[in-house]
Amino acid sequence: MDATKAAGLSARLCLQAYGMGVGRQLLAHGRLARGLRYLGVPVNYWRAVEFQLALEEGCFEGGQRVLDVGSPKLLALYLAERVRCQVVATDLHGYFCDEYALLARLRALERRLQLAVADGRRLPFPDACFDRVCTISVLEHIPGGGDGDCMAEIGRVLRPGGRCIVTVPFWPTGRIDRREPDFYWAAGTGDDGKVFFQRRYSEAELQQRLIDPSGLRLGCLRFVGERVLPRSRREFCEFLPLITGPIQPILSRLLLTPACDDWRRLRKPLCALLVLESPA
Ligand SMILES: C[S@@+](CC[C@H](N)C(=O)[O-])C[C@H]1O[C@@H](n2cnc3c(N)ncnc32)[C@H](O)[C@@H]1O
Repeated sequence: MDATKAAGLSARLCLQAYGMGVGRQLLAHGRLARGLRYLGVPVNYWRAVEFQLALEEGCFEGGQRVLDVGSPKLLALYLAERVRCQVVATDLHGYFCDEYALLARLRALERRLQLAVADGRRLPFPDACFDRVCTISVLEHIPGGGDGDCMAEIGRVLRPGGRCIVTVPFWPTGRIDRREPDFYWAAGTGDDGKVFFQRRYSEAELQQRLIDPSGLRLGCLRFVGERVLPRSRREFCEFLPLITGPIQPILSRLLLTPACDDWRRLRKPLCALLVLESPA
């Protein structure tokens, strides 16, 4: 295994061990369901690769002010604790506030981890006040033109010289997935019982819906694909039972491709990573 691959795998295993530590701590403080959840699936199939890429591309350093918009909160905790960033972790819904307030208190991170309920389309922060913004697997879930509104807000709060890390699902021709409103941020129910769940962006949509409204400069655009089920519209992780949780970071290492600059070189490109910069 070459040095880059070894470093990537070790970053994944490190995050996995970190997530399991969170699980043990939640269990020890009576949070049975959530503790078991973190122990069983500390970092899932896709988050393993997305978190790794975010950490590689984010150039995070201690003392930086980091805004998280809606991402799974393990990354925010990790950045506050291990990288010593000043993190503001937000989401449209407050599902994480109680649990992460407890974790921040137990880990003496109250000064470095602030939690807030905020709509990414109307961020309650002044202009140019963050060095880094990350939004992992969030924008695709904002209906209508909300993804572009959120990117405009991110562009507004990022300081000159700052950097933003975005991951979203990709599909060569773009597509919208609808499903039953069985997820906690579902709004309403459609006529057929299904609602908008997520957008999978084509390359043109990445430009028009995300990059253009942000007013930021594209620093890098990379794609990750799946090596299996090349002709299916479904993803391998949809077939993974919960019991595979502990090995999902390894499975994603084996079954997902390394990030590559051109999605046409991948048989089944499924995820896009954008690094956007605010000119200094
Ligand atoms: C795929 S989930 C990611 C977090 C999820 N809890 C996890 O662990 O994987 C997408 C997140 O985007 C959030 N979200 C949706 N619309 C949003 C908005 N307008 N502003 C901020 N967050 C939003 C949802 O509340 C949800 O937590």
